[in-house]
Amino acid sequence: MANRFRSATGFTGSTMNSTRPDRNELIAFARRYASGVSDRSPLEQLRGGSLNFVWRIHSPSGKSFIIKHAPPYIASVPDIAFDDSRIVFEVNILKAFQFRNELNQLIGISVRPPEFLGSDNRRHLLLMEDIGAWPDLLQAVRFTGYNFASLGSNLGAYIAQLHLQTYQNKWFADNFANLPVQRTRLQVQYNGCLEFCRRAHLPDAEKIGKLCRQLGEKFNTVGKCLIMGDLWPYSILLGREEIRLIDWELTHFGRPAQDVAHLSAHLWMMFHRTSRPSQKDRIGRFRQTFLASYFNEVARQKPELISAEDERDFQIHFGAEILARTLGNFQNNYLYDGLTPEHPVILEAIAEARKWIYGDYAAFKP
Ligand SMILES: Nc1ncnc2c1ncn2[C@@H]1O[C@H](COP(=O)(O)OP(=O)(O)OP(=O)(O)O)[C@@H](O)[C@H]1O
Ligand SMILES: [Mg+2]
Repeated sequence: MANRFRSATGFTGSTMNSTRPDRNELIAFARRYASGVSDRSPLEQLRGGSLNFVWRIHSPSGKSFIIKHAPPYIASVPDIAFDDSRIVFEVNILKAFQFRNELNQLIGISVRPPEFLGSDNRRHLLLMEDIGAWPDLLQAVRFTGYNFASLGSNLGAYIAQLHLQTYQNKWFADNFANLPVQRTRLQVQYNGCLEFCRRAHLPDAEKIGKLCRQLGEKFNTVGKCLIMGDLWPYSILLGREEIRLIDWELTHFGRPAQDVAHLSAHLWMMFHRTSRPSQKDRIGRFRQTFLASYFNEVARQKPELISAEDERDFQIHFGAEILARTLGNFQNNYLYDGLTPEHPVILEAIAEARKWIYGDYAAFKP
């Protein structure tokens, strides 16, 4: 959810910067798990995310590592409280990738998370593999040389396996009920839709707001499979043939729409916001193969994963995400930054969102 909160959400925190670890503490933490890190190791704070503090630490051998710290507020907006247990969920899922047999099926798809190296749950610290400076999806579509059709297809297969292999799995249900995060999403995103629609003076704001709120209430429960939870362009780092998925703090035992419709909505917005045919082509191919591969895998293995109710959830989440990015708390620093509710581009996006929310499009599947 990078760069996406504005203080208008009404959340207040009190702990502020007092919990933020200093250089000595970060180095001591990294040294526990990474040989070669020393008192003089260069430590660089990374930009990019906004919920947490993230650093790259170098060892003299040239190896580097990533440290992530979750404060009990949003790092870039310290007066908005946000439950710091989110990093424990990220720690636990990165660890689970190392020892849960269910997740073995995800190996070999050319998509993976960074390797877990160490954690301090009391201090809300995580040490992980440094992927390096791979471009995220938003950046990568500007370049030639990536096979977007195959990358999209691999990501679709990977997310399908994540959902399928954990479907109705008690261990994942017991360990990944990330309800603090879902509660915040309900408050700032789904409940917010009413206000977002009012900003655009939509005559049916109440009706749309109610559909989105009901969806958020459903998502604020334990669902049917493990989801990545933050599947948007900034979490997807691209190599020529491979993908690394970062930022798993919103992972939850939830419902498929919050991954699949989420990324699909972002790809629609990326497509909408670029005027370059070459970029439209890459984004379109990525989206088409992502969805085709996801739904094919599900149909082949466990069609019961996606019920008619889930398909309806896909549509509403797709629309709700567009509303949040065009009129809502997550407009800042993203694709529609600075555009007023009356701007023709915003009106186009709202029209698209409404159609999905009302279910005017027959099916979500390609
Ligand atoms: N394992 C990693 N390897 C390389 N770079 C990383 C890694 N993890 C994070 N980064 C870099 O740090 C930035 C912030 O990380 P991340 O997205 O996890 O933070 P965040 O605060 O949770 O973000 P958000 O506000 O989107 O939730 C990323 O955009 C990326 O550039
Ligand atoms: Mg994050």
